[in-house]
Amino acid sequence: MKTVIISNRLPVKIIEENNEYTFIPSEGGLATGLGDVYKTGNSIWIGWPGIEVPEERQQEVIDKLSALNLYPVFLTQEEINLYYEGFSNEVLWPVFHYLVTYAHYEQSYWDCYKSVNNKFAKAALHVLAKKDKIWIQDYQLLLLSGILREKLPQSTIGFFQHIPFPSYEIFRLIPWRDELLNGMLGADLIGFHTYDDVRHFLSTATRLLPVNSSANVLNSNERQIVVEAFPMGIDFDKFSNLTTYDEVQKEIEYFRKGKEEMKVILSIDRLDYSKGILERLKALELLLQVHPEYIGKIELYMIVVPSRDTVPQYRDLKEQIDQFVGNLNARYRSINWIPVNYFYRSFPIEVLSSLYATADICLVTPMRDGMNLVSKEYVASRNHNDGVLILSEMAGASKELTDAIIVNPNNLGDIMEAIVLALKMPIEEQQTRMKAMRAIVEKFNVKHWVNNFILRLNEVKDSQNSLLTK
Ligand code: G6P
Repeated sequence: MKTVIISNRLPVKIIEENNEYTFIPSEGGLATGLGDVYKTGNSIWIGWPGIEVPEERQQEVIDKLSALNLYPVFLTQEEINLYYEGFSNEVLWPVFHYLVTYAHYEQSYWDCYKSVNNKFAKAALHVLAKKDKIWIQDYQLLLLSGILREKLPQSTIGFFQHIPFPSYEIFRLIPWRDELLNGMLGADLIGFHTYDDVRHFLSTATRLLPVNSSANVLNSNERQIVVEAFPMGIDFDKFSNLTTYDEVQKEIEYFRKGKEEMKVILSIDRLDYSKGILERLKALELLLQVHPEYIGKIELYMIVVPSRDTVPQYRDLKEQIDQFVGNLNARYRSINWIPVNYFYRSFPIEVLSSLYATADICLVTPMRDGMNLVSKEYVASRNHNDGVLILSEMAGASKELTDAIIVNPNNLGDIMEAIVLALKMPIEEQQTRMKAMRAIVEKFNVKHWVNNFILRLNEVKDSQNSLLTK
């Protein structure tokens, strides 16, 4: 009996050099957390390799990936445009993040979303053996549980959504809302990061479909579906240990040289309008206006990791950020000081670790975020228990990291005051807060998340089977 994990992307990055494909394991949270599961040999991970692979080279990729317990689903350029960029990232992503005006309800996007979910099902059926457990990840594959349930009525299927589930009033706007919900209900266990997502899902399902709920269990077509919160964690030990590596220590020293008195504020995100990057910059501008005493005394290190830049809204956002940073720096900079050190690229984990370990403040202010792992990575990297986390109340992580300074990301004055509070916070208070947050991030780490979900999936299936035999 194996566990078959299915996600839109495989947990590897593909590089094509001199006509050769090489695969680099991804550092992403999901890949790390599920590493033990999929690398054991008793498991397989199905997903898109992230680039278009010409037909004549697909077998080569299948062979190379099979050595890593991975199985690819190849997407054509049209499928990438309509299923990935279109339905996943121009319909579901904006609506689930409450940006309904960004949604483009195109019939061709929906048709392709359905056919690609079927393509994933075909791949799953190819590798699945009877009694295998199936664990489907995220919003790109909302229909997959339903498709597989139809083909394999007795199978064990878990589904976890990594992004928020919106309130009924938002979800009901989607033209294909019933089909999406029915697809999700193919699972035995549906997981979200927070209890609020669970609540929204239960209320949406019972209002739109002929299902009823008792507590967190939905009854649909004689089947019981359990819906629960599983807040995702990170590999605490990895982030905590990284800061002690020689190369990371060297980076930290180099970074701090000549800046002993400077207060460093850190911000790290994928390029995304849900992350509140522009609002964060506006709050910094406000701070420099209202509190000129901090000019020359604080620096923002802002890393924006390129993402989905073929989707128009992401391209527009990039331009707006470029412009805002340009203007702000031009207005406030001096010969040897600049308020915003802006990087539009990804960095190796060792560099991120040195930034986490160096920053006096980490500013995480998404407009809406399923969990937000950056906030947890910062906490895990603070081995001396100092540093201040400023965290948006709209991030799932704010439900666990209650010792952060919690802000409303729409309230620029609130963010500005939080930064001032953080800059002035006595070390004793920083340590009390950081210790409490570290205990949580250490205990509820990513292994705990994986084990908890799988354990619960087994329990749910066992109790369904015992109901059937009664
Ligand atoms: C979020 C989603 C993931 C997605 C990731 C990167 O974290 O929940 O499903 O993989 O963003 O986005 P991308 O579109 O590059 O896969």
